Amino acid sequence: MLKRKTILDLQRMKAESEKITVLTAYDYPFARLMDQAGIDVILVGDSVGCVVAGYDNTLPVTMEDMVYHTRAVVRGAQQAFIVADLPFLSYQIDLAGARRNAGRLMQEGGAHAVKLEGGRNVAATLEAIAAMDIPVLGHIGLTPQSIHRMGGYRVQGKRDAQARELLEDARAVETAGASALVLEAIPAPLAAEITAAVSIPTIGIGAGPHCDGQVLVIHDMLGLCDKFSPKFVKRYADLGKLVRDGVSDYIREVREGVFPGPEHSFK
Ligand code: KIV
Repeated sequence: MLKRKTILDLQRMKAESEKITVLTAYDYPFARLMDQAGIDVILVGDSVGCVVAGYDNTLPVTMEDMVYHTRAVVRGAQQAFIVADLPFLSYQIDLAGARRNAGRLMQEGGAHAVKLEGGRNVAATLEAIAAMDIPVLGHIGLTPQSIHRMGGYRVQGKRDAQARELLEDARAVETAGASALVLEAIPAPLAAEITAAVSIPTIGIGAGPHCDGQVLVIHDMLGLCDKFSPKFVKRYADLGKLVRDGVSDYIREVREGVFPGPEHSFK
């Protein structure tokens, strides 16, 4: 029987300088495959809106979407720690709504933790969720739910003043009781400084090698999404080509009468 990773494992890994591996998943088969490969954490990201639903950004993703995808992932994973994103509008209105929606991702979705975007501006929300004994992760730097304020998907914290603000955000997230912190699209030296400044694990995406762990969107790293690929993505496989080739072979064989053959037919 596989032992399920917990938030305590992630804290221990930071203490022992053991890197934490995180990938996104949105469905049962991918969750199962990456769980079998030994991933530490699966993030059911609201990036589901872009890479699965085909939206331009994550803003249209709803609580219903997140509950549905989280349930599928939970069914597929035996040993990974599962974090589900709180989508846009699910935690920004008031603390009662944030608590209810965090609870829904745990109760209806089966997640082990939730994540939300922001720093000092969401400290009270992080605190309210943590007070329910729900492990909650922060997310600072490029926060995709703020895409319209940021004016696009841009690296954050390049100027000194902005870097200092991000450091303050990280400290506020830790003080509010968050269990870990995602750092997205910030310079590597700043991510290293934040990682050293906080006691909670940092998980980087486009934040250089000095974070306590790394996360990538599975569709980006396996070549399933050719719309846009940020500089920080490394492509580990080209599943897009495999799928196109497999589908082309099927179309040709059906058209030529090669499939189904006798071995696929009942006498
Ligand atoms: O939604 C998501 O996939 C994320 C990662 C990019 C960290 O939040």
